[in-house]
Amino acid sequence: MTTSAVPAHQGTQPGPSLSLYHLLDPEVLANPYPLYHRLRTEDPVHWDIFLHAWVVTRYCDVIQVLHDFSADVTPTPEHLTAIGLAALNPIAQMMVSQMLFMDAPAHTRLRALASAAFTPRRVAMLRSHIQEIADSLLDAVAAGSSMDLLRDFASPLPAIVTAGMLGVPVADHLQLKAWSADFAEMLGNFQYNPDRIPRVLKSVEEMTAYFRAAIREQRDHPREGLIHALSTAEIGGDRLSEEEVIANCIVTMVGGQETTTNLIGNGMLSLLRNPDQLETLRADLSWIPSAIEELLRYETPSQHTTRMAPADVELGGKLIRKRQAVIAVMGAANRDPERFADPDRLDITRVDNRHVAFGWAAHFCFGAPLARMEAQIAFETLLRRLPNLTLEPGPLVWRQNLGLRGLTALPVRIADPESAARGAAFHG
Ligand code: HEM
Repeated sequence: MTTSAVPAHQGTQPGPSLSLYHLLDPEVLANPYPLYHRLRTEDPVHWDIFLHAWVVTRYCDVIQVLHDFSADVTPTPEHLTAIGLAALNPIAQMMVSQMLFMDAPAHTRLRALASAAFTPRRVAMLRSHIQEIADSLLDAVAAGSSMDLLRDFASPLPAIVTAGMLGVPVADHLQLKAWSADFAEMLGNFQYNPDRIPRVLKSVEEMTAYFRAAIREQRDHPREGLIHALSTAEIGGDRLSEEEVIANCIVTMVGGQETTTNLIGNGMLSLLRNPDQLETLRADLSWIPSAIEELLRYETPSQHTTRMAPADVELGGKLIRKRQAVIAVMGAANRDPERFADPDRLDITRVDNRHVAFGWAAHFCFGAPLARMEAQIAFETLLRRLPNLTLEPGPLVWRQNLGLRGLTALPVRIADPESAARGAAFHG
Protein backbone atom coordinates (compact mmCIF):
# COMPACT_ATOMS: atom_id res chain seq x y z
CA MET A 1 0.00 0.00 0.00
CA THR A 2 1.20 3.53 -0.72
CA THR A 3 -0.19 6.82 0.53
CA SER A 4 -0.26 8.40 -2.94
CA ALA A 5 -3.00 6.07 -4.17
CA VAL A 6 -6.48 7.52 -4.66
CA PRO A 7 -9.21 5.91 -2.53
CA ALA A 8 -12.48 4.85 -4.15
CA HIS A 9 -14.94 7.72 -4.79
CA GLN A 10 -12.20 10.37 -4.65
CA GLY A 11 -10.13 12.14 -7.29
CA THR A 12 -11.20 12.42 -10.91
CA GLN A 13 -13.64 9.62 -11.59
CA PRO A 14 -15.39 9.03 -14.90
CA GLY A 15 -19.17 9.29 -14.62
CA PRO A 16 -21.45 6.45 -13.60
CA SER A 17 -22.16 5.72 -17.26
CA LEU A 18 -18.86 3.85 -17.40
CA SER A 19 -20.18 0.67 -15.81
CA LEU A 20 -19.80 -2.99 -16.59
CA TYR A 21 -23.51 -3.10 -15.86
CA HIS A 22 -24.07 -1.86 -19.43
CA LEU A 23 -23.43 -5.44 -20.49
CA LEU A 24 -27.15 -5.81 -19.84
CA ASP A 25 -27.87 -3.56 -22.88
CA PRO A 26 -28.44 -5.85 -25.87
CA GLU A 27 -26.10 -3.86 -28.15
CA VAL A 28 -23.30 -3.94 -25.55
CA LEU A 29 -23.91 -7.63 -24.95
CA ALA A 30 -23.58 -8.21 -28.70
CA ASN A 31 -20.28 -6.30 -28.80
CA PRO A 32 -18.77 -5.50 -25.38
CA TYR A 33 -15.38 -4.50 -26.83
CA PRO A 34 -16.02 -0.74 -27.25
CA LEU A 35 -17.07 -0.62 -23.57
CA TYR A 36 -13.93 -2.55 -22.57
CA HIS A 37 -11.86 -0.18 -24.70
CA ARG A 38 -13.33 2.84 -22.88
CA LEU A 39 -12.71 1.25 -19.49
CA ARG A 40 -9.11 0.35 -20.38
CA THR A 41 -8.27 3.79 -21.74
CA GLU A 42 -10.36 6.09 -19.49
CA ASP A 43 -10.16 4.30 -16.14
CA PRO A 44 -8.39 0.93 -16.21
CA VAL A 45 -8.90 0.34 -12.49
CA HIS A 46 -12.45 1.57 -12.16
CA TRP A 47 -14.76 1.77 -9.16
CA ASP A 48 -18.12 0.62 -10.50
CA ILE A 49 -20.82 2.28 -8.45
CA PHE A 50 -23.53 -0.07 -9.69
CA LEU A 51 -21.64 -3.26 -8.99
CA HIS A 52 -19.93 -1.92 -5.88
CA ALA A 53 -16.71 -3.48 -7.10
CA TRP A 54 -13.50 -2.52 -8.86
CA VAL A 55 -13.37 -3.37 -12.55
CA VAL A 56 -9.90 -4.12 -13.92
CA THR A 57 -9.40 -4.28 -17.68
CA ARG A 58 -5.67 -3.98 -18.58
CA TYR A 59 -3.75 -7.18 -19.26
CA CYS A 60 -0.99 -6.42 -16.72
CA ASP A 61 -3.51 -5.55 -13.96
CA VAL A 62 -5.67 -8.61 -14.66
CA ILE A 63 -2.57 -10.78 -14.31
CA GLN A 64 -1.72 -9.11 -11.01
CA VAL A 65 -5.23 -9.57 -9.63
CA LEU A 66 -5.37 -13.23 -10.66
CA HIS A 67 -1.92 -13.81 -9.23
CA ASP A 68 -2.14 -11.95 -5.93
CA PHE A 69 -5.75 -11.50 -4.87
CA SER A 70 -7.97 -13.83 -2.86
CA ALA A 71 -10.39 -16.25 -4.53
CA ASP A 72 -12.18 -16.82 -1.23
CA VAL A 73 -15.17 -14.71 -2.29
CA THR A 74 -18.08 -16.90 -1.23
CA PRO A 75 -20.20 -15.05 1.34
CA THR A 76 -20.48 -16.68 4.77
CA PRO A 77 -23.89 -17.92 6.00
CA GLU A 78 -23.85 -15.10 8.59
CA HIS A 79 -23.31 -12.48 5.89
CA LEU A 80 -26.02 -13.90 3.64
CA THR A 81 -28.45 -14.04 6.52
CA ALA A 82 -27.61 -10.45 7.50
CA ILE A 83 -28.40 -9.17 3.98
CA GLY A 84 -31.65 -11.14 3.79
CA LEU A 85 -30.38 -13.87 1.47
CA ALA A 86 -30.40 -16.80 3.89
CA ALA A 87 -32.11 -18.84 1.15
CA LEU A 88 -28.74 -19.00 -0.63
CA ASN A 89 -26.95 -20.65 2.30
CA PRO A 90 -27.04 -24.24 0.95
CA ILE A 91 -25.43 -23.04 -2.29
CA ALA A 92 -22.74 -21.03 -0.49
CA GLN A 93 -22.03 -23.99 1.81
CA MET A 94 -21.32 -26.20 -1.17
CA MET A 95 -19.27 -23.54 -2.99
CA VAL A 96 -16.81 -23.08 -0.12
CA SER A 97 -15.64 -26.65 -0.78
CA GLN A 98 -15.04 -25.96 -4.48
CA MET A 99 -11.41 -25.35 -5.46
CA LEU A 100 -12.39 -22.27 -7.45
CA PHE A 101 -13.25 -20.35 -4.27
CA MET A 102 -10.29 -21.28 -2.08
CA ASP A 103 -6.89 -19.81 -1.32
CA ALA A 104 -3.70 -21.61 -0.40
CA PRO A 105 -3.08 -23.78 1.51
CA ALA A 106 -6.60 -25.29 1.25
CA HIS A 107 -6.60 -24.73 -2.51
CA THR A 108 -3.15 -26.27 -2.98
CA ARG A 109 -4.24 -29.42 -1.14
CA LEU A 110 -7.47 -29.78 -3.07
CA ARG A 111 -5.96 -29.04 -6.45
CA ALA A 112 -3.13 -31.54 -5.85
CA LEU A 113 -5.61 -34.30 -4.99
CA ALA A 114 -7.79 -33.40 -7.97
CA SER A 115 -4.74 -33.39 -10.27
CA ALA A 116 -3.80 -36.84 -9.01
CA ALA A 117 -7.27 -37.92 -10.15
CA PHE A 118 -7.38 -36.08 -13.49
CA THR A 119 -4.09 -37.07 -15.08
CA PRO A 120 -2.94 -36.42 -18.68
CA ARG A 121 -3.44 -40.16 -19.28
CA ARG A 122 -7.13 -39.87 -18.36
CA VAL A 123 -7.55 -36.87 -20.67
CA ALA A 124 -5.80 -38.70 -23.53
CA MET A 125 -8.11 -41.69 -23.02
CA LEU A 126 -11.09 -39.46 -23.85
CA ARG A 127 -9.76 -38.58 -27.32
CA SER A 128 -11.29 -41.39 -29.38
CA HIS A 129 -14.52 -41.12 -27.38
CA ILE A 130 -14.76 -37.38 -28.25
CA GLN A 131 -14.14 -38.09 -31.94
CA GLU A 132 -16.92 -40.69 -31.97
CA ILE A 133 -19.36 -38.28 -30.32
CA ALA A 134 -18.46 -35.45 -32.72
CA ASP A 135 -19.00 -37.72 -35.71
CA SER A 136 -22.27 -39.16 -34.50
CA LEU A 137 -23.67 -35.68 -33.77
CA LEU A 138 -22.80 -34.57 -37.31
CA ASP A 139 -24.16 -37.83 -38.78
CA ALA A 140 -27.55 -36.79 -37.40
CA VAL A 141 -27.61 -33.45 -39.25
CA ALA A 142 -25.22 -33.75 -42.17
CA ALA A 143 -27.81 -34.84 -44.72
CA GLY A 144 -29.99 -31.80 -44.02
CA SER A 145 -29.62 -28.31 -45.40
CA SER A 146 -29.28 -26.41 -42.14
CA MET A 147 -28.57 -26.86 -38.45
CA ASP A 148 -28.40 -24.94 -35.20
CA LEU A 149 -24.73 -25.38 -34.44
CA LEU A 150 -25.31 -24.88 -30.72
CA ARG A 151 -28.31 -27.15 -30.25
CA ASP A 152 -27.07 -29.86 -32.59
CA PHE A 153 -23.36 -29.88 -31.83
CA ALA A 154 -21.72 -27.37 -29.45
CA SER A 155 -24.12 -28.05 -26.54
CA PRO A 156 -24.42 -31.85 -26.60
CA LEU A 157 -20.74 -32.52 -27.33
CA PRO A 158 -19.36 -31.20 -24.00
CA ALA A 159 -22.36 -32.62 -22.10
CA ILE A 160 -21.70 -36.15 -23.41
CA VAL A 161 -17.94 -35.76 -22.92
CA THR A 162 -18.59 -34.61 -19.34
CA ALA A 163 -20.62 -37.74 -18.61
CA GLY A 164 -17.71 -39.85 -19.85
CA MET A 165 -15.19 -37.76 -17.91
CA LEU A 166 -17.15 -38.16 -14.66
CA GLY A 167 -17.92 -41.84 -15.22
CA VAL A 168 -21.72 -41.69 -15.23
CA PRO A 169 -24.12 -43.12 -17.84
CA VAL A 170 -24.08 -41.16 -21.12
CA ALA A 171 -27.87 -41.26 -21.01
CA ASP A 172 -27.68 -38.76 -18.10
CA HIS A 173 -26.07 -36.04 -20.23
CA LEU A 174 -29.27 -34.03 -20.74
CA GLN A 175 -29.76 -33.91 -17.00
CA LEU A 176 -26.11 -32.87 -16.46
CA LYS A 177 -26.58 -30.14 -19.05
CA ALA A 178 -29.75 -28.81 -17.39
CA TRP A 179 -28.15 -28.67 -13.92
CA SER A 180 -25.04 -27.07 -15.30
CA ALA A 181 -27.06 -24.40 -17.14
CA ASP A 182 -28.96 -23.54 -13.94
CA PHE A 183 -25.78 -23.26 -11.89
CA ALA A 184 -24.00 -21.27 -14.61
CA GLU A 185 -26.78 -18.66 -14.57
CA MET A 186 -25.80 -17.91 -11.01
CA LEU A 187 -22.04 -18.13 -11.51
CA GLY A 188 -21.87 -15.93 -14.57
CA ASN A 189 -24.22 -13.12 -13.62
CA PHE A 190 -24.07 -9.93 -11.59
CA GLN A 191 -27.74 -9.21 -11.52
CA TYR A 192 -29.70 -10.42 -8.53
CA ASN A 193 -32.55 -12.59 -9.76
CA PRO A 194 -34.65 -13.66 -6.78
CA ASP A 195 -36.99 -15.56 -9.11
CA ARG A 196 -34.18 -17.89 -10.09
CA ILE A 197 -33.11 -18.86 -6.56
CA PRO A 198 -35.61 -21.71 -6.05
CA ARG A 199 -34.52 -23.30 -9.31
CA VAL A 200 -30.79 -23.07 -8.54
CA LEU A 201 -31.43 -24.43 -5.04
CA LYS A 202 -33.35 -27.35 -6.46
CA SER A 203 -30.57 -28.08 -8.95
CA VAL A 204 -27.88 -27.96 -6.25
CA GLU A 205 -29.96 -30.31 -4.08
CA GLU A 206 -30.47 -32.72 -6.97
CA MET A 207 -26.83 -32.63 -8.12
CA THR A 208 -25.65 -33.27 -4.56
CA ALA A 209 -27.94 -36.27 -4.21
CA TYR A 210 -26.92 -37.55 -7.66
CA PHE A 211 -23.18 -37.39 -6.98
CA ARG A 212 -23.58 -38.80 -3.46
CA ALA A 213 -25.43 -41.81 -4.87
CA ALA A 214 -22.82 -42.24 -7.63
CA ILE A 215 -19.90 -42.11 -5.15
CA ARG A 216 -21.53 -44.76 -2.95
CA GLU A 217 -22.52 -46.98 -5.84
CA GLN A 218 -18.98 -46.76 -7.28
CA ARG A 219 -17.48 -47.97 -4.01
CA ASP A 220 -18.75 -51.41 -4.93
CA HIS A 221 -18.82 -51.01 -8.70
CA PRO A 222 -16.01 -48.65 -9.71
CA ARG A 223 -16.20 -46.98 -13.15
CA GLU A 224 -13.41 -45.27 -15.02
CA GLY A 225 -13.87 -41.53 -14.42
CA LEU A 226 -13.43 -38.54 -12.17
CA ILE A 227 -15.98 -39.51 -9.51
CA HIS A 228 -14.13 -42.68 -8.64
CA ALA A 229 -10.71 -41.09 -9.15
CA LEU A 230 -11.51 -38.17 -6.82
CA SER A 231 -13.00 -40.52 -4.21
CA THR A 232 -9.84 -42.63 -4.14
CA ALA A 233 -7.14 -39.98 -4.77
CA GLU A 234 -4.66 -40.01 -1.90
CA ILE A 235 -1.52 -38.02 -1.14
CA GLY A 236 0.41 -39.01 1.99
CA GLY A 237 -2.69 -40.55 3.56
CA ASP A 238 -4.83 -37.43 2.89
CA ARG A 239 -8.10 -37.97 0.98
CA LEU A 240 -11.06 -35.86 -0.04
CA SER A 241 -14.20 -36.03 2.08
CA GLU A 242 -17.48 -37.03 0.42
CA GLU A 243 -18.65 -33.38 0.52
CA GLU A 244 -15.42 -32.27 -1.18
CA VAL A 245 -15.78 -34.89 -3.92
CA ILE A 246 -19.37 -33.77 -4.54
CA ALA A 247 -18.55 -30.03 -4.58
CA ASN A 248 -15.65 -30.52 -6.98
CA CYS A 249 -17.56 -32.87 -9.28
CA ILE A 250 -20.11 -30.05 -9.54
CA VAL A 251 -17.55 -27.32 -10.31
CA THR A 252 -15.81 -29.55 -12.86
CA MET A 253 -19.10 -30.49 -14.47
CA VAL A 254 -20.25 -26.87 -14.77
CA GLY A 255 -16.78 -25.55 -15.68
CA GLY A 256 -16.45 -28.07 -18.46
CA GLN A 257 -19.75 -27.56 -20.21
CA GLU A 258 -20.91 -23.96 -20.70
CA THR A 259 -17.41 -22.69 -21.49
CA THR A 260 -16.59 -25.36 -24.05
CA THR A 261 -19.98 -24.93 -25.73
CA ASN A 262 -19.30 -21.21 -26.00
CA LEU A 263 -15.78 -21.72 -27.33
CA ILE A 264 -17.18 -23.83 -30.18
CA GLY A 265 -20.17 -21.52 -30.81
CA ASN A 266 -18.35 -18.17 -30.49
CA GLY A 267 -15.36 -19.59 -32.33
CA MET A 268 -17.37 -20.78 -35.33
CA LEU A 269 -19.20 -17.45 -35.45
CA SER A 270 -15.88 -15.57 -35.43
CA LEU A 271 -14.57 -17.71 -38.29
CA LEU A 272 -17.76 -17.29 -40.34
CA ARG A 273 -17.53 -13.51 -39.84
CA ASN A 274 -13.87 -13.53 -40.96
CA PRO A 275 -13.93 -15.56 -44.20
CA ASP A 276 -10.22 -15.00 -44.96
CA GLN A 277 -9.31 -16.66 -41.64
CA LEU A 278 -11.79 -19.48 -42.21
CA GLU A 279 -10.27 -20.06 -45.63
CA THR A 280 -6.72 -20.16 -44.24
CA LEU A 281 -7.84 -22.75 -41.71
CA ARG A 282 -9.82 -24.86 -44.17
CA ALA A 283 -6.85 -24.90 -46.53
CA ASP A 284 -4.48 -26.14 -43.84
CA LEU A 285 -6.03 -27.82 -40.79
CA SER A 286 -2.64 -27.92 -39.09
CA TRP A 287 -3.42 -24.33 -38.01
CA ILE A 288 -6.16 -25.65 -35.70
CA PRO A 289 -4.22 -25.56 -32.38
CA SER A 290 -3.11 -22.00 -33.10
CA ALA A 291 -6.64 -21.04 -34.22
CA ILE A 292 -8.15 -22.38 -30.96
CA GLU A 293 -5.87 -20.12 -28.92
CA GLU A 294 -6.83 -17.15 -31.07
CA LEU A 295 -10.55 -17.93 -30.79
CA LEU A 296 -10.17 -18.18 -26.99
CA ARG A 297 -8.51 -14.76 -26.99
CA TYR A 298 -10.84 -13.10 -29.48
CA GLU A 299 -14.22 -14.14 -28.00
CA THR A 300 -13.27 -15.24 -24.51
CA PRO A 301 -15.93 -17.69 -23.24
CA SER A 302 -15.42 -16.80 -19.57
CA GLN A 303 -15.31 -13.00 -19.69
CA HIS A 304 -14.49 -12.16 -16.10
CA THR A 305 -13.96 -13.49 -12.61
CA THR A 306 -14.07 -11.99 -9.15
CA ARG A 307 -11.45 -11.70 -6.44
CA MET A 308 -11.09 -9.88 -3.10
CA ALA A 309 -8.19 -7.63 -2.15
CA PRO A 310 -6.18 -9.56 0.46
CA ALA A 311 -5.03 -6.29 2.07
CA ASP A 312 -5.05 -2.59 1.14
CA VAL A 313 -3.36 -2.66 -2.26
CA GLU A 314 -2.42 -0.02 -4.82
CA LEU A 315 -3.26 -0.94 -8.40
CA GLY A 316 -3.01 1.43 -11.36
CA GLY A 317 -2.75 4.39 -9.01
CA LYS A 318 -5.92 3.50 -7.09
CA LEU A 319 -6.16 2.31 -3.54
CA ILE A 320 -8.14 -0.89 -3.23
CA ARG A 321 -9.21 -1.54 0.32
CA LYS A 322 -8.86 -4.92 2.01
CA ARG A 323 -11.81 -7.26 1.16
CA GLN A 324 -13.17 -4.99 -1.59
CA ALA A 325 -14.35 -6.98 -4.59
CA VAL A 326 -12.36 -6.79 -7.82
CA ILE A 327 -13.71 -7.99 -11.17
CA ALA A 328 -10.86 -9.05 -13.46
CA VAL A 329 -12.16 -8.78 -17.03
CA MET A 330 -10.25 -11.39 -19.03
CA GLY A 331 -12.32 -10.51 -22.12
CA ALA A 332 -10.86 -6.97 -21.98
CA ALA A 333 -7.30 -8.03 -21.10
CA ASN A 334 -7.33 -10.28 -24.15
CA ARG A 335 -7.99 -7.22 -26.36
CA ASP A 336 -5.35 -4.99 -24.71
CA PRO A 337 -3.19 -3.36 -27.44
CA GLU A 338 -0.35 -3.05 -24.92
CA ARG A 339 -0.11 -6.84 -25.01
CA PHE A 340 -1.57 -7.97 -28.37
CA ALA A 341 -0.78 -6.23 -31.67
CA ASP A 342 -3.94 -5.18 -33.50
CA PRO A 343 -6.07 -6.91 -30.83
CA ASP A 344 -9.46 -6.52 -32.53
CA ARG A 345 -8.27 -8.46 -35.56
CA LEU A 346 -8.81 -12.23 -35.69
CA ASP A 347 -5.51 -13.79 -36.76
CA ILE A 348 -5.40 -17.56 -36.46
CA THR A 349 -1.64 -17.51 -37.13
CA ARG A 350 -0.92 -15.09 -34.26
CA VAL A 351 2.28 -15.87 -32.34
CA ASP A 352 3.07 -15.08 -28.69
CA ASN A 353 -0.62 -15.46 -27.91
CA ARG A 354 -0.48 -15.78 -24.12
CA HIS A 355 -4.14 -14.94 -23.49
CA VAL A 356 -5.89 -15.17 -20.12
CA ALA A 357 -9.00 -17.03 -21.31
CA PHE A 358 -8.13 -19.91 -18.96
CA GLY A 359 -7.18 -17.56 -16.13
CA TRP A 360 -3.70 -17.32 -14.63
CA ALA A 361 -1.63 -18.67 -11.77
CA ALA A 362 -3.02 -20.97 -9.06
CA HIS A 363 -6.57 -21.17 -10.43
CA PHE A 364 -5.51 -21.60 -14.08
CA CYS A 365 -8.23 -23.75 -15.64
CA PHE A 366 -8.03 -27.28 -14.34
CA GLY A 367 -9.68 -28.62 -17.50
CA ALA A 368 -7.64 -26.66 -20.07
CA PRO A 369 -5.98 -29.75 -21.64
CA LEU A 370 -9.39 -31.39 -22.08
CA ALA A 371 -10.99 -28.17 -23.38
CA ARG A 372 -8.19 -27.71 -25.93
CA MET A 373 -8.41 -31.30 -27.11
CA GLU A 374 -12.21 -31.17 -27.34
CA ALA A 375 -12.15 -27.91 -29.29
CA GLN A 376 -9.49 -29.18 -31.67
CA ILE A 377 -11.53 -32.29 -32.46
CA ALA A 378 -14.73 -30.23 -32.76
CA PHE A 379 -13.30 -27.69 -35.24
CA GLU A 380 -11.36 -30.27 -37.22
CA THR A 381 -14.47 -32.47 -37.59
CA LEU A 382 -16.75 -29.55 -38.44
CA LEU A 383 -14.41 -28.12 -41.08
CA ARG A 384 -13.65 -31.49 -42.63
CA ARG A 385 -17.24 -32.70 -42.77
CA LEU A 386 -19.11 -29.43 -43.33
CA PRO A 387 -16.61 -27.32 -45.26
CA ASN A 388 -19.22 -24.99 -46.78
CA LEU A 389 -21.07 -23.77 -43.70
CA THR A 390 -22.50 -20.26 -43.96
CA LEU A 391 -24.38 -18.11 -41.46
CA GLU A 392 -28.16 -18.03 -41.87
CA PRO A 393 -29.26 -14.42 -42.29
CA GLY A 394 -31.03 -12.95 -39.26
CA PRO A 395 -30.24 -11.42 -35.89
CA LEU A 396 -28.01 -13.23 -33.44
CA VAL A 397 -29.18 -13.40 -29.83
CA TRP A 398 -26.58 -13.45 -27.06
CA ARG A 399 -27.34 -15.14 -23.78
CA GLN A 400 -28.21 -12.80 -20.93
CA ASN A 401 -25.28 -14.21 -18.98
CA LEU A 402 -22.77 -11.47 -18.42
CA GLY A 403 -19.83 -13.67 -17.49
CA LEU A 404 -20.24 -16.69 -19.73
CA ARG A 405 -20.31 -15.20 -23.20
CA GLY A 406 -22.30 -17.22 -25.70
CA LEU A 407 -25.16 -17.24 -28.17
CA THR A 408 -28.63 -18.71 -27.62
CA ALA A 409 -28.52 -20.27 -31.09
CA LEU A 410 -26.25 -20.32 -34.14
CA PRO A 411 -28.29 -21.17 -37.25
CA VAL A 412 -26.07 -22.17 -40.15
CA ARG A 413 -26.68 -23.39 -43.67
CA ILE A 414 -24.99 -26.58 -44.80
CA ALA A 415 -24.43 -25.43 -48.37
CA ASP A 416 -23.47 -28.82 -49.71
CA PRO A 417 -25.03 -31.64 -47.68
CA GLU A 418 -23.55 -34.15 -50.11
CA SER A 419 -19.98 -33.28 -49.18
CA ALA A 420 -20.93 -33.80 -45.54
CA ALA A 421 -22.15 -37.29 -46.30
CA ARG A 422 -18.96 -38.01 -48.33
CA GLY A 423 -16.84 -36.71 -45.43
CA ALA A 424 -18.61 -39.14 -43.10
CA ALA A 425 -18.08 -42.05 -45.48
CA PHE A 426 -14.42 -41.13 -45.81
CA HIS A 427 -14.06 -40.94 -42.05
CA GLY A 428 -15.77 -44.09 -41.13
C1 HEM B 1 -13.09 -23.45 -23.29
C2 HEM B 1 -13.30 -24.05 -22.17
C3 HEM B 1 -12.94 -23.49 -20.83
C4 HEM B 1 -12.68 -22.20 -20.44
C5 HEM B 1 -12.68 -20.95 -21.29
C6 HEM B 1 -12.41 -22.22 -19.02
C7 HEM B 1 -12.08 -21.11 -18.27
C8 HEM B 1 -11.65 -21.17 -16.96
C9 HEM B 1 -11.15 -20.04 -16.21
C10 HEM B 1 -11.06 -18.62 -16.74
C11 HEM B 1 -10.82 -20.48 -14.97
C12 HEM B 1 -10.23 -19.64 -13.84
C13 HEM B 1 -11.32 -18.96 -13.06
C14 HEM B 1 -10.77 -18.05 -12.00
O1 HEM B 1 -9.55 -17.89 -11.86
O2 HEM B 1 -11.59 -17.52 -11.25
C15 HEM B 1 -11.13 -21.89 -14.92
C16 HEM B 1 -10.98 -22.67 -13.81
C17 HEM B 1 -11.45 -23.97 -13.74
N1 HEM B 1 -11.91 -24.74 -14.80
FE1 HEM B 1 -12.09 -24.16 -16.71
N2 HEM B 1 -12.53 -23.52 -18.57
C18 HEM B 1 -12.84 -24.31 -19.65
C19 HEM B 1 -13.01 -25.69 -19.64
C20 HEM B 1 -12.97 -26.46 -18.52
C21 HEM B 1 -13.16 -27.90 -18.50
C22 HEM B 1 -13.37 -28.79 -19.73
C23 HEM B 1 -13.13 -28.27 -17.19
C24 HEM B 1 -13.30 -29.65 -16.59
C25 HEM B 1 -12.64 -30.69 -16.91
C26 HEM B 1 -12.87 -27.09 -16.39
C27 HEM B 1 -12.76 -27.06 -15.02
C28 HEM B 1 -12.28 -25.98 -14.30
C29 HEM B 1 -12.05 -26.00 -12.86
C30 HEM B 1 -12.33 -27.18 -11.92
C31 HEM B 1 -11.52 -24.75 -12.52
C32 HEM B 1 -11.11 -24.28 -11.13
C33 HEM B 1 -9.60 -24.42 -10.99
C34 HEM B 1 -9.08 -23.93 -9.67
O3 HEM B 1 -9.77 -23.17 -8.98
O4 HEM B 1 -7.96 -24.31 -9.29
N3 HEM B 1 -12.79 -26.01 -17.23
N4 HEM B 1 -11.62 -22.29 -16.15
